[in-house]
Amino acid sequence: MSVPALFTAFDSRGVRFRNRILVSPMCQYQAVEGLANDWHYAHHARFALGGVGGALLEATAVEPEGRISPGCLGLWHDGQIEGLRRLADLYHDQGIPLGVQLAHAGRKASSAVPWAGAGPLRPDSPYPAWPTLAPSALAHSADWPTPNAARREDIDRVVGAFAASARRAVAAGLDFVEIHGAHGYLIHEFFSPLANRRTDAYGGAFDNRARLALEIVRAVRDAVPAAMPVWCRLSCMDDGEGGVTLDDSVRLAKALAREGVDLVDCSAGGILGPVARSATQATPGHQVPYAARIRAEAGVASMAVGLIVDAEQAERIVADGAADLVALGRGLLDDPSFAYHAARRLGLADAHRLLPVPHGFFLGRQQAREQAAAS
Ligand SMILES: Cc1cc2nc3c(=O)[nH]c(=O)nc-3n(C[C@H](O)[C@H](O)[C@H](O)COP(=O)(O)O)c2cc1C
Repeated sequence: MSVPALFTAFDSRGVRFRNRILVSPMCQYQAVEGLANDWHYAHHARFALGGVGGALLEATAVEPEGRISPGCLGLWHDGQIEGLRRLADLYHDQGIPLGVQLAHAGRKASSAVPWAGAGPLRPDSPYPAWPTLAPSALAHSADWPTPNAARREDIDRVVGAFAASARRAVAAGLDFVEIHGAHGYLIHEFFSPLANRRTDAYGGAFDNRARLALEIVRAVRDAVPAAMPVWCRLSCMDDGEGGVTLDDSVRLAKALAREGVDLVDCSAGGILGPVARSATQATPGHQVPYAARIRAEAGVASMAVGLIVDAEQAERIVADGAADLVALGRGLLDDPSFAYHAARRLGLADAHRLLPVPHGFFLGRQQAREQAAAS
């Protein structure tokens, strides 16, 4: 029997993914001073033992002011390397590559954790608010504070911080880096006319709005080994009138690929409202057409994400060539062994080999008995 497309290997530069199912980045809001701890280990152990092809760590701030919340991971100093090395070892023990999503939250930094109401921290919050940075002094919405418009030295500092964090990711033994250019955070804010009102070389025309993304990609590419993949997550469409269109994103993806981006992770939304709002209104696979167009027209690999809910749907996305990879967030929280279950469902021979010994040993025996009974 042939191997389902979802369970064929995928190579990105020098890194091989044993199947096409990835853990999507998911903020845990459990870090203290940006350090990974046992919570992150437990969260990721579920997926590392469940047969995925690869994983991405949550949005990890390149400078403290770039954290979404006080509970976000960071890679702004060397002391934060060790905790990520432990997570890399966890995945590597199962033969799974691990990447980190490097991020700066821009004007959506300094937020409360979701269970404290999300939204902006207040100056009198238990963890006080900090000043935020954006292309223009334009608040995310009426109840958010006005950010500081980035000066040239702020831009240079942020670009340098992405490169320094990428070097720390290499030092932690991580296999790839994803630059977070989506969800209404700093890079997306620069690219979207809805947040960028600058009149200098970083605002106005497409090339100017894309400049920060491209400078960051160049700096990160230079900071990591040639064999290490650099990916970028984009919000391929803005919700609001006058925002980023899919045509803009195809054009940006081409430019990113020219600078050495190996894969575009195709998400959407976040420049106006919370990402979760569009996600809850969405239907299964709602963002797959973005990944399909970028893959077909920008000459770069793509990853589809957003309500990928079952094995057959995931298989179709890869087999039809809509995307090279699929990323799951909530689906994997719901079933950390989604990849193993998908392999069984799609009839992959030796599906139990996705699982660690001894787990896979016993399930392999069970699978062999089932196959014998069915034949
Ligand atoms: C708990 C949670 C945390 C998330 N944190 C991040 C994040 O750190 N970075 C990011 O780009 N997306 C984040 N997302 C979005 C997911 O990566 C994913 O794109 C989205 O949930 C849609 O996929 P799904 O329908 O499979 O959950 C998060 C989603 C969830 C549910």
